[in-house]
This record gives sequence, C-alpha cells and structure tokens, in this order.
Amino acid sequence: MLISKQIKQLRLEIQEHNYCYYVLDDPKILDGEYDQLLQKLQTLESKHPDLITVDSPTQRVGAEPLSSFTEVIHEIPMLSLSNAFDKDGIYEFAKRIKEKLQIETIEYIAEPKLDGLAVSLRYENGLLVTAATRGNGYRGENVTQNVKTIKNIPLRLRGQFPKILEVRGEVVMPKAVFDKLNQQAKDGKTFANPRNAAAGSLRQLNPKVTATRPLTFFSYAIGTISEVGLPNTHSGILNQLQQWGLPIASQNQVVKNTKDCLDYYQNILAKRNALPFEIDGVVYKVNNIEQQEVLGFISKAPRWAIAHKFPAQEAVTKLLAIEVQVGRTGAITPVAKLAPINVGGVTVSHATLHNQDEINRKDIRVNDTVIVRRAGDVIPEVVKVLVEKRLSSSQQFVLPSKCPVCNSDAERVTGEAVLRCTGGLHCPAQRQQALQHFVSRQAMDIDGLGKKLVIQLVENNLVNNPADIYDLTHEQWAGLERMGDKSADNVMLSIEKSKTTTFAQFLYALGIREVGESTAKILTEQFVGLNELKQASEYELQQIMDIGPVAAKYIVNFFQQDDNIKIIERLEASGIHWNNTITKSTSKQILVGKVFVLTGTLSQMSRNEAKSKLQQLGAKVTNSISKKTDYLVAGEKAGSKLTKAKNLGVEILEESNLIEMLN
Ligand code: IVH
Repeated sequence: MLISKQIKQLRLEIQEHNYCYYVLDDPKILDGEYDQLLQKLQTLESKHPDLITVDSPTQRVGAEPLSSFTEVIHEIPMLSLSNAFDKDGIYEFAKRIKEKLQIETIEYIAEPKLDGLAVSLRYENGLLVTAATRGNGYRGENVTQNVKTIKNIPLRLRGQFPKILEVRGEVVMPKAVFDKLNQQAKDGKTFANPRNAAAGSLRQLNPKVTATRPLTFFSYAIGTISEVGLPNTHSGILNQLQQWGLPIASQNQVVKNTKDCLDYYQNILAKRNALPFEIDGVVYKVNNIEQQEVLGFISKAPRWAIAHKFPAQEAVTKLLAIEVQVGRTGAITPVAKLAPINVGGVTVSHATLHNQDEINRKDIRVNDTVIVRRAGDVIPEVVKVLVEKRLSSSQQFVLPSKCPVCNSDAERVTGEAVLRCTGGLHCPAQRQQALQHFVSRQAMDIDGLGKKLVIQLVENNLVNNPADIYDLTHEQWAGLERMGDKSADNVMLSIEKSKTTTFAQFLYALGIREVGESTAKILTEQFVGLNELKQASEYELQQIMDIGPVAAKYIVNFFQQDDNIKIIERLEASGIHWNNTITKSTSKQILVGKVFVLTGTLSQMSRNEAKSKLQQLGAKVTNSISKKTDYLVAGEKAGSKLTKAKNLGVEILEESNLIEMLN
C-alpha cells in the first residue's frame, strides 16, 4: 500500500477510536493498543514529514510558544446567561416565557452549568481552524494551539458536516487534574479553583504547558453555521453536534415542564460532588428553536435560557489562628481557626490545614485573608490566601518541634507528610483518643462511657491504657464528677456487657494503625484467633486481598511490642471473649501466593462467591490484569481483560477448571 494511503487510514482509524472513547464513552480497544496505533503513525510521519497534516492526531502535543495572543472577533456575539438563585426565580422565568408565547407547557432542555471558560471553535470544511475565548463577548483571544491539545476536541469533524460551523462550549479542568496541579505547586502559587486553573492553562503562551494539563471540553450551543436544515430543537442540535464528533455533557436531559426542571436541579445537586468536573448550577433552555426565536434576547442574555445556580461552596474570611491538634496515633495536625463565615448555608469556623507541606505550599499564615471551601460533607479547606491583603508583619507558620500536649519530641518519618508525637500512650491526648476509640460503638461498645468521662479518667490518672478500664472499682467511678452510685452501676454494667464481643470488634478496638473496621473484619475471616494473627508474617498478611504492605507492617509491628501484648493479656484475663465462627483453618491454604482475576459471567456461582472461595484457599483476588496475575478466570462475555491476559501470557481458566480447582 502507498505510504500516504497507509497514513491516511491510520489517522481515520485513530479518529474513530477517539470518537468512541471521548464522545461515546465506549472504547473499542485497550489503551495500549491505541498507543501502538499512535506510535505507528508517529514513526511513519517522522520518516515522511511532508505527509504530516494539521489535523493529524500526532499534532496535539503543543506548538511553539507565542509572544502574545491575536484577537478574534466573534461573528455572532458570545452571550451570557441570566441567573436565578431559588425556585421563585425559576417560576418567574417560566411565567415570562408562558406569557410571551401564550403556551401553557414548555419543554426545556436541562444541562449542567459547567464551571470553566467559554470557547468558540470554528471548523471550515470540517477542519478546526480557530479556537477563541469568549473575551468580552465580542472579541476574544485566539487560543487555537492550546485548544488543539484538548484530546476530546476533534481536529476534524465526522460525517456530513456544514462548510462552516462554529461550536460553543465550555473548557473545564477535571477535579483530579486540578488537585494534582495544586499539589505540585510551590510557594502559594496554587489556583483557587478548577475554573481559574482552566483559564490559566488555556491562556498560556506556551502550548506545551497547556498540553501537560489535560483539559476537557463540552459543547452546549452553535454560533455561525453555513447551512440551514438543522433540527428544530436544542436537544436535536446537540445530538447533531455529537454525530459530527463533538463531545456533549452526558447529564443533558429534555424535561417537560418547570417542575421537572426543579427535580433535575435536585438530582444534579446531589451528584455534584461525585462529578469529575466542577459545576456551579444547571441551565434550563427552551428546547424548541422557533420558540427561542420568538423569545429573543434582553440586553446580553437570551430570554429563553436561565442559569439556576447552586449555593456557593467558597467564601472569603480571616484566618484568626492556627491550632495544633494531636490525634489518636500521635499525628499532629494544624487546624485553621476562622472568623465564622457562611459557606453554602453552613457556618464554618475551622478548616483543616493537613500538614506542614500543605501550609508551605499554600503559604498560609496567621491573620491572612483566605478563601475557604466546603464541598458537600467534605471537611472545610483553605484553598488559597489572598496575598495582596496580607500584613507586611506576617510570619511563616512552622509546626512545633515538641508535642503541644505532652512535650515529647515531634518527629517526621521520612517519606511521610505528617508530624507525630513520639509520646505514645504517655501522651494524654493520644491516651484519651485511644480510649475513646476503644470504648466506641464499633469497637468495645461501652454504653454510657462518653468523651467527658474519658477525659476525667485521663485527667485523674485513673486509666493509662484500655485494660485499666476493666479494673476500675465502684468507688472510683462514683467518685468522678457528676457521677453517683446509680451512674457508676450503669457504667460498670456496660463494661461487663462489653466483655462478650466479636473478634473483629476487639481487633478494631486495639487501634492498630491502618486497621479500620473493614480490615479488622477481613483479618478475622482469615485467622482463627489472636494467637494465629500474632504469628502472621508481613508476607502472609499481604497475601490477603485488600491488605497492603503498609498495613501488614503495622500489624506485625503492633504484635511485636511487649506493652501491647501485656495489655491484650490483661484484657483477656478480665474476661473479654468471643465465639469463633471461623471455618478457614479447616480448609487447606493450597492457593497461597497465587493471584487471580475474575471476569465475565459465571454460571454456577457469582463472582463474589468465587472470590471468597478462592480467598479461603489463600489466593489473592485482584481487579486488574498485570504481569503478576497467575490466572484469569474467564466466564461468559469476558471482554478486554481476556484480551489483555492473552497478550501477557496469563493462564486462562474456564469456569469448569475453576470448579475443579476449588474442589
Ligand atoms: S449557554 C446564549 N449552557 O455560563 C447562551 N452556558 O453564565 C450561551 N456555561 O458564558 C451560554 N455551562 O460559559 C450555556 N450548559 C451551558 C453552560 C453555559 C456553562 C457558561 C458559559 C456562559 C456562562 C454564562
């Protein structure tokens, strides 16, 4: 085949895979196979540079830097939207429309309001020729080279496209990209939010920088178009754009009336935090294009559309102090004390600052004016300092070198970001929290022994470790503040009751690092009792699904400490017990060290059943195929995992082979 033809075919093939992956969200090949195609094209092109075209998928890596952006005049101005902040605003919007159209029920299309920046893409003869920012709505900046690095924007349209097409949409920075970018930032040079980061990345003079920050685009409207004959609804137009290869938001939905608009709002609001990109509301647009034309515009916004904004997640306030807390495992955490501020309906007066690195990166200082952010049920965070408002007298903040509670040395383990108090259970803060953890409902479940009582026990030096709780006398309990004979009896009864527990609760109560409730449960399914667990090696522990090297190390380390063993022995001596319901030790661990992956549908059992049976025999069951995989169990309709396993030479088992093995 002619080289030029071969190159052309490769490009078409890659373009189709891009379309499946980015627009339809339905990839047809593995990432590795895609990379191979691209590599092949690159090799051919490097041998025949004269055959490189502007729309080749290899041309996305970023062109040479510019000294400034040129101006682009928008043939059709890029408008903005009117806003509503509550239901009433939406009812008024709907009322105006109904009056003007003299129609009772209006169909809308509801879309997420993407929080990025608006751009206009101009395609001529199917080729992307210009990409421009919105600017002031009439003139924007030419950011074509940067936009070409955005992988889900087609460089060439598919199918039967018009000679000239301008597509409008939003460029956003996915939250994950934003978080990573900020983590790599230095000296307070972080971005306040993904919108600013997207704008900063798109308005880079050096496209190679833009290329390192994967942005995403979604179309939501058209500008100039050379041909007529478009669908007569907005939803129809968006579908047409999708067929031409342009991405549209998968959350778009046609709704039949105002009430459904409001339901859509609630639905998207509930999903807001789980979406991969930021949205700041939803947009309702009259779906019928003729109706849109009748409605027209008021000043700079269409009368047929409105943005229904979500409550703000950010606010500006003053950072009054940095407090230092000591946690159960000794972690010393800086916490910002803020001038109380309402963020999206909730008063925020504290925000986590994580650790020293985080403070340095954002250069956070006492008395700074800061932007705080509260997203859903996530702990409020300081996202950025408004440095221009900083007092010249301000000083960098450094965490103390001694524990603020017990004055033991504070230590930072190399490779870890956290500073830790080395006082262990000698530190009252650690002791108090270890005890609170021990008595909590998910652990030993000692009813009536709350935080206030625990603090008293620690302050009066009555309890140094969990085992001491079981030695306290009636007199000691009754002697505490706001306790009498009756309450002492009640607590002692709860303590007595707690002695009958489960292995998993007991293990969790011990407070071993990295052993939360679910890990504790997994461990108790694998080990008959404490004695067996105490003797487990790191290697043995790591063979268990979901137990990684870090947890394995902490577990082994915990049982190597004499102090811990003594406490456990005292706890057992005080009568703590549980029933062993474990069956594992009866089955032979014949699959220890073997790594399995399950795929496709099994007919004799569910994948979960197969997984737990394999685990009972000591096998490790993981989700993805790698060189470390020993067997892939392939049921009906096995897909890409089967291909990958074959490529890597992993042994493939059919369901019948698996059953044989299990028996
Ligand atoms: S339509 C003529 N749809 O919001 C109407 N805009 O506040 C043009 N935006 O400048 C805009 N998501 O950058 C539209 N689904 C969406 C949107 C959206 C985000 C942005 C857009 C616009 C701004 C107006």
